[in-house]
Amino acid sequence: MTPVLEMRGIEKRFGGVHALKGVDFSIAAGECVALVGENGAGKSTLMKTLGGVHTPDAGGIVIDGAQVNITSVADAIRHGVSFVHQELNVLDNLNVAANVFLGREPVRGGFLRLIDEPRMHRETRTQLERLGLDIPTDTLLSKLSIAQQQMVEIAKALSLNARLLILDEPTSSLTLQETARLLEVVKELKASGVAIIYISHRLNEVIEIADRAVVLRDGANAGTLTRAEITHDNLIRMMVGRELSNFYKSPTGAVGQGFFQVERLQTHRYPNQRVSFSIGKGEILGLAGLVGAGRTELAETIFGVDEGNAVFVLDDKPVRVRSSKDAIANGIYLVPEDRRRCGLLIDVVIRENITLPALERYSNSNLVSVKRERAVAVEVCKKLNVKAPGVEVKAGNLSGGNQQKVVLAKWLSLSPKVMIFDEPTRGIDVGAKSEIYDLMRSLAESGVAILMISSDMEEVLNVSDRVAVMHEGRLTGILTRDECTEENVMRLAVGQTTDAQTVSQQTVV
Ligand SMILES: Nc1ncnc2c1ncn2[C@@H]1O[C@H](COP(=O)(O)OP(=O)(O)OP(=O)(O)O)[C@@H](O)[C@H]1O
Ligand SMILES: [Mg+2]
Repeated sequence: MTPVLEMRGIEKRFGGVHALKGVDFSIAAGECVALVGENGAGKSTLMKTLGGVHTPDAGGIVIDGAQVNITSVADAIRHGVSFVHQELNVLDNLNVAANVFLGREPVRGGFLRLIDEPRMHRETRTQLERLGLDIPTDTLLSKLSIAQQQMVEIAKALSLNARLLILDEPTSSLTLQETARLLEVVKELKASGVAIIYISHRLNEVIEIADRAVVLRDGANAGTLTRAEITHDNLIRMMVGRELSNFYKSPTGAVGQGFFQVERLQTHRYPNQRVSFSIGKGEILGLAGLVGAGRTELAETIFGVDEGNAVFVLDDKPVRVRSSKDAIANGIYLVPEDRRRCGLLIDVVIRENITLPALERYSNSNLVSVKRERAVAVEVCKKLNVKAPGVEVKAGNLSGGNQQKVVLAKWLSLSPKVMIFDEPTRGIDVGAKSEIYDLMRSLAESGVAILMISSDMEEVLNVSDRVAVMHEGRLTGILTRDECTEENVMRLAVGQTTDAQTVSQQTVV
């Protein structure tokens, strides 16, 4: 096959960081190539040199046999390259259609050159339908969930009718059903001759759709796997450079008695539903569901985000939560889903990001000891294997996955009683995932009750002691360790019942 794209010897440095060390990459029409590697390996940077975001320091890009010079996003689009970025790139205050057509709004003929609104909405609708997304095209982006915003980004990329589509972690905030739909669309695009570069830490997706996997390690090519060679073990070995054994610590399924009890909790989004469940001391309760099932709202209500008046029983004592301050005072913490917006100050250095929630711990009288701060920051970063030149680097300069790790590091330096993780390993590489699972397990073992919201089926099934499943604001069931199968989770997630449910029904009040 003749390649549509060939990148040769791509070099990129950011100050002292040598991000790309002579990387080669090629792809043919109708091919789907997965680009994999640990956090900070250089995947996004390589693609940004193709998408016109960064100019490479050295190396060449050949498209359709001709050397090209891509120095801007417009250049990239002109060469048929369309890019869905790892970080959301949407404008909150514009509606869906305006986001999809931003900067290239169709105009009607005539003297006034008015924007052709009906056409914009019509074409946007077509793209949304293709993705199975049922939202009005005049909805403001701020009204959508992160998953829906991500789908709008993808619709925007599709509407460019590119010959080369880059998807950088497209599913990290999508749930099971949307991910399945996206993978179908990728297959359709492949069949119509589009070349697709697919970046993902969810190895199951890579295994499902990639024709080839190109592995980067520390900014250099580590090797390529053919379709037949793409397996979990091969991918991990090539990415990490060694075997990763004991990936999941098997959950015991042992359920302590209701240490943290949530009774008839009402959320703003689904005021007619009441949710009740309990988490044992030392238990990890997984929470699965489709997009819009209300999992994040549930987490936020428990954490007191929307000024409310929730009452729980924690360690046999009633606890009233009217605001997040109340929650924190009672040892209830939330690691939010939208970490870039709620979890991290991107212009602030790593050290301060980590120590900010408990600054008083690092101070004598009113003076903060930077030395003490640094010691803690260095330690947690080491634990989570954060790849950065040091803790005095701005968080915004880290790779996507390493930013996530910093947010987790911040909360792990506190001492919680109840910990809610909303998509804890989103965008995090395999090695660090196992670190995070170990940390969650040891938190549990030290007596914390953990609620883990996750859309990663593998993670839900392998990490949770029990799995609660939501559908449209309602808990449709709680599965015990023995009942946890992909099929049972999916059935409850779409609102059906499982055979097992009759057994568990007693646990769902
Ligand atoms: N704008 C920047 N300034 C400084 N360093 C940067 C910048 N962008 C990337 N880097 C560094 O380049 C390296 C590669 O980062 P990149 O974002 O390409 O990783 P990645 O493979 O996409 O990782 P992830 O899986 O976490 O998204 C990292 O060490 C990162 O800190
Ligand atoms: Mg990246």
